[in-house]
Amino acid sequence: MLRALWIFLPAYAANMAPVFIAKIFPGWTAPVDGGRVGKDGHRLLGAGKTWRGFVGGALLGGMVALGIALVAPWPIPGVLEGWDYGYAPDAPCSDASGDRICQTVLVHPHPPPLIFLFGAVMGFMALVGDAVKSYFKRRMGKESGAPWFPFDQLDFVVFGLLGMLIASPLLPAGWVLHALLDDWVVLATLFVLTPLLHLLVNRLGYWLGLKKVPW
Ligand code: CTP
Ligand code: MG
Repeated sequence: MLRALWIFLPAYAANMAPVFIAKIFPGWTAPVDGGRVGKDGHRLLGAGKTWRGFVGGALLGGMVALGIALVAPWPIPGVLEGWDYGYAPDAPCSDASGDRICQTVLVHPHPPPLIFLFGAVMGFMALVGDAVKSYFKRRMGKESGAPWFPFDQLDFVVFGLLGMLIASPLLPAGWVLHALLDDWVVLATLFVLTPLLHLLVNRLGYWLGLKKVPW
């Protein structure tokens, strides 16, 4: 269960990034929809979907992926594996583990730029999911910031996973499918626990004055 949250950390981070980067660059508010309005009179995506958010999400996603790869050589059973995100220079998985992919990674440490790019694609896709959801939200006449359960909570999970699949050639062959599919608990955790965590984290963000609404 913890492993699922760990693997998916770049997408979680990316989904939170817009709120933080909004504090750092309050003036950079160019919306992705360029202010355009649909035939229904509502904004295409809304003022809450900015380029700033996408840039922040991709950068943070990439950085978190690198972070995961860097601590991978010190695995915690059931959470971290010796070759998570592909970088395992002196991995303890070396002698003990007979894992073929682990062994391969050991012989050829994975290039950090590829790991960063993987996390960036994952983060970017997480926010594409967020924007796609906003598109449908606007078509339903819901204003920016209005709650829409469970889509507000799961938009970035579906697209973050899609991002992992799209970007999987950037990591050692087989890692993405192994990480996501070897144990059904991983996907189940992402879909069941994420909405709960999302609600908790947003409530916290609201208390801290980072978010305008508590959901
Ligand atoms: N945000 C951003 N760029 C994005 C996504 C989010 O700048 N691509 C910022 C906005 O300031 C936004 C806040 O993060 O108000 C919270 O994001 P979110 O809840 O996803 O947006 P909402 O404003 O609630 O809009 P929607 O109803 O479309 O979800
Ligand atoms: Mg919202």
